Amino acid sequence: MGKLQDIYKVISNEKLCEKFTRLRIDAKPIVEKSRPGQFIHIRINDGLEPFFRRPFSIYRAKKSLEILYEVVGSGTGALAAKKKGDTLDVLGPLGTPFGMPPKGIKQIVMVAGGVGVAPFLFLSDTLKKKDYELILLYGGRTKGHIFNIDEFKKNGCGVFQATDDGSVGVKGRVSKLFPKIDPCPETTFIYTCGPRPMMASVQDFARKHKLRARGSCEEVMACALGACLGCSIKTTQGFKTVCGDGPVFDLHELIFEKIT
Ligand SMILES: Cc1cc2nc3c(=O)[nH]c(=O)nc-3n(C[C@H](O)[C@H](O)[C@H](O)COP(=O)(O)OP(=O)(O)OC[C@H]3O[C@@H](n4cnc5c(N)ncnc54)[C@H](O)[C@@H]3O)c2cc1C
Ligand code: FES
Repeated sequence: MGKLQDIYKVISNEKLCEKFTRLRIDAKPIVEKSRPGQFIHIRINDGLEPFFRRPFSIYRAKKSLEILYEVVGSGTGALAAKKKGDTLDVLGPLGTPFGMPPKGIKQIVMVAGGVGVAPFLFLSDTLKKKDYELILLYGGRTKGHIFNIDEFKKNGCGVFQATDDGSVGVKGRVSKLFPKIDPCPETTFIYTCGPRPMMASVQDFARKHKLRARGSCEEVMACALGACLGCSIKTTQGFKTVCGDGPVFDLHELIFEKIT
């Protein structure tokens, strides 16, 4: 799958809620090649800070290329300062996509934690054209992490929300929402993305109900080209790189080490 690297213009950079911002980039060549689950690698500034590119899931690839991000450090802080007309050096699309669900699947459950919701709008854009029941289980820390989820609803997703402090939706972790679905090994398929403990709980749930599932992993990255091995993770098949072998993996392959 060919990746492209070029300088593209920012179309808009708007806050969707206290914690999340949506960046639209005029990058048609990347839009045309992107598939749900893939990511882009952005060189945010020309100078030394931040030195490395930063990876972001593709939130939407329609007229423009969109990402949804949370400011957590210098790179995302610099990204938040970008204005319409500013330029960004973007490499992408990178990584393995989510892929279509296997034959016989009728119910798709997307389980997202925090900004891990980012790859699912594009996935639902693609899946809405098929005859699936689409469900989004979304957990955020507080109401500051909850944004207008209408675009998911427009794609026909049933949306259930949870927050750690109960400020929106059910109080507690996203796993509190698992009873909202009626899982069936033959017809239910799970896609998940979010913090590792959350993905571990989704893996437990999928194992218990014998569900097939794919998970998108996030690791700190440097090259994003499979060269530095900085993004290696443990799987049942040995170490794999998130940038080259992933970010999407069979969820049952992933080894989430419990920190005690
Ligand atoms: C494939 C992939 C897709 C991603 N998609 C998104 C997305 O759609 N939206 C979004 O907001 N973020 C996403 N991330 C995470 C994003 O790349 C980091 O938040 C960003 O690189 C942080 O850069 P920074 O300079 O602002 O923070 P830094 O100063 O580099 O780090 C600030 C803090 O964040 C932690 N951190 C940095 N990178 C990561 C990471 N990859 N995973 C977990 N913690 C990290 C650091 O350990 C540190 O504690 C994705 C990461 C990967 C690998
Ligand atoms: S970031 Fe270098 S191998 Fe993945």
